[in-house]
Amino acid sequence: MEYNPFDPAVVRNPYPTYAVLRREAPVYRTALDFAAVSRYADVLHVLRSPELFSSSAMRDLIDRVKETSPDADEIRGGETLLGTDPPAHTRLRKIVNRAFTPRRIAGLEGRIREIASQLVDEFADEGECELMDDFAASLPVTIISEILGIDPAMRRDFKRWSDELIQAMDGAPSPELQLRLDRSFLERKAYVDEVVAERRRSPRDDVISALVQAEQDENVMTEHEIGNFIVLLLIAGNETTTNLIGNAVLALLDHPQDLAKVSGDLSLVPNVVEETLRYDSPVQLMLRRATRETELSGVTISEGETVAVLLGSANRDERQFADADRFDLTRDKTPHLAFGFGTHFCLGAGLARLEARMALETLLGRLRLQELTDRSIERAPSLIVRGPRRLDLRFSPR
Ligand code: HEM
Repeated sequence: MEYNPFDPAVVRNPYPTYAVLRREAPVYRTALDFAAVSRYADVLHVLRSPELFSSSAMRDLIDRVKETSPDADEIRGGETLLGTDPPAHTRLRKIVNRAFTPRRIAGLEGRIREIASQLVDEFADEGECELMDDFAASLPVTIISEILGIDPAMRRDFKRWSDELIQAMDGAPSPELQLRLDRSFLERKAYVDEVVAERRRSPRDDVISALVQAEQDENVMTEHEIGNFIVLLLIAGNETTTNLIGNAVLALLDHPQDLAKVSGDLSLVPNVVEETLRYDSPVQLMLRRATRETELSGVTISEGETVAVLLGSANRDERQFADADRFDLTRDKTPHLAFGFGTHFCLGAGLARLEARMALETLLGRLRLQELTDRSIERAPSLIVRGPRRLDLRFSPR
């Protein structure tokens, strides 16, 4: 058997391959220079052992984006949350936790619902839409821009920066993409520097102001670190949530009885969100690097070896979930690993859940979803994220 995450058949549907990996090669050395770890118990062990499995591998992934960019050395000087281990990580996480409080997130519910509703207004009378562009991609970028207090006139640039960064993380960027990245890097840096300086002069009730204020505490976050954090939010918070919305709608269309049930009882929407996170995880894998020789499922991992934890496979592990390949809205609370686990557990999990819930409540509350007009669902060949590129959807008003 062979596992290559970029193989078109795997991009289309990785789950049969994952099942073979879990059964026959729970630690599988790929041609891409990492060992793929596919069983739930092993994935959990890796994620909860940062002293054995370092996030420096995530840092390399992010650095790849900046390789040839002007000022790259300067920006690399600052640490980034996703790529550090304790204790450096502990310090940064404490600061951003203070800015990203559950109360601030809960306070966004009305605004998220309003934006979702405005987006649906645009196409509700037409009977058809392309859900990814018209809806699923717009919602998260608008929200994250508002959370950061980004000027609405910059939204398009913000989205473009986010898309380019995600593309660059998926492989060696082409010369054209690198050129665009370099140009965007300068634009972004100029803009972020300006926003940080402005919030220092006159703080508002937004996340950047909270971080700037933290800068004055003993727990200092440097200007570079704030810049890196904003870049991380661009990478981590947009396409992931877009894909969660897309994967949820796709799962419902594939399961018409569930679609009918949820459409008649919107209190089931949180179950759809949670089961989609498990059943078709928007983030399929994360990287770690072994700090010393160790073992996983009886296989020796050497010091310095890169390990990819397959979250999408762990969430389908038959050892952990009964009838794991079934989309089941009545599943009990066995925790899935779609948001990671432990030290680096997704900072935006609460926000992503809230956005997906508002998105689905709005769509299902206002429209009767019927069918895809084009069933050939294309997915971006990505190492990390999984979701449909387009969803051409037919619906009628409720
Ligand atoms: C469905 C949507 C999302 C999924 C599936 C997802 C998934 C993940 C996963 C798996 C990690 C763990 C990374 C690791 O262990 O190395 C993570 C971390 C992170 N996520 Fe998310 N994420 C989502 C949405 C968001 C949103 C909306 C934001 C921000 C607004 C966000 C911000 C972050 C940040 C900052 C980290 C790094 C945390 C740390 O290193 O301490 N994510 N996410």
